[in-house]
Amino acid sequence: MKAVIISAYGKADQLYLADIDVPKVAEDEVLVAVEATSINPIDWKARQGMLQPVYNWSFPVVLGWDLAGTIVQVGPAVKKFKVGDDVFARPDNYKDGKKGTYAEYAVVKEDKLALKPANLSFEEAAGIPLAGLTAYQVIKDQLKIRAGEKVLIQGGAGGVGSFAVQLAKYFGAYVATTASPQNEVFLKEIGADEVIDYHTTKITDVLHDYDAVFDTVNEIDAGISILKPNGRLVTIAGNPSEKQKSGSQSGEKQTK
Ligand SMILES: NC(=O)c1ccc[n+]([C@@H]2O[C@H](COP(=O)([O-])OP(=O)(O)OC[C@H]3O[C@@H](n4cnc5c(N)ncnc54)[C@H](OP(=O)(O)O)[C@@H]3O)[C@@H](O)[C@H]2O)c1
Repeated sequence: MKAVIISAYGKADQLYLADIDVPKVAEDEVLVAVEATSINPIDWKARQGMLQPVYNWSFPVVLGWDLAGTIVQVGPAVKKFKVGDDVFARPDNYKDGKKGTYAEYAVVKEDKLALKPANLSFEEAAGIPLAGLTAYQVIKDQLKIRAGEKVLIQGGAGGVGSFAVQLAKYFGAYVATTASPQNEVFLKEIGADEVIDYHTTKITDVLHDYDAVFDTVNEIDAGISILKPNGRLVTIAGNPSEKQKSGSQSGEKQTK
């Protein structure tokens, strides 16, 4: 099959088209003919070698964490899906680094698959899994956003941020978000109550006593500063210092 691979870490010119073997399907996996994939920040971070402490891959490596496509083969233990189903998924990370989604075919475990809604194109569906799941895990499971809470999503116009704004609103929160001015209309359409232009306004000047902050832009200290005592902050963009994690800057605040 054709796949876009890298044979060394580096810039985008390390990506090239190659012929590689179609991955073998395990008992609990399906093989998907990939119609669309998407690009997330993890793709360029991995390409540049920033994930070497996490993934011990040998080259060539196939990147890509999202797919939408059609099932062409099912393993014998697969129960809920069949050949011909249109699906979308964020496949598992495979240790060999050769089963990414920049390829004509990719394997996915049954428990990581969902049927693609008929009203979504393959391209639209492939934009959802990684960013959508990240936002869902943070808003629902980690921050545990409840109705009536005040929540700030830093970077609301991004892939993760735009799902987070919608989910926080769905759970009944008052949602503030930071963005460039050209994204204000879009963010209000998807549920933001307040959009702050981060180019001209500091959140610390306009927000206070927030219950929760979801940081997607690595501005942890600013986020902590607007929390009320016992407020919660989760970051997916930075590494909180011990001081930030302990909440010693501001009493009881919790940072993950
Ligand atoms: N994508 C994922 O599934 C995922 C998973 C785990 C971790 N992460 C990490 O989370 C971060 C965001 O990922 P993403 O996929 O959402 O990125 P993205 O789609 O590239 O979005 C980045 C957004 O950040 C906004 N931005 C940049 N600087 C900002 C600032 N100072 N204040 C407020 N907004 C700012 C920009 O908004 P404007 O256009 O409005 O300026 C841009 O739309 C990355 O560090 C990524 O590695 C992502």
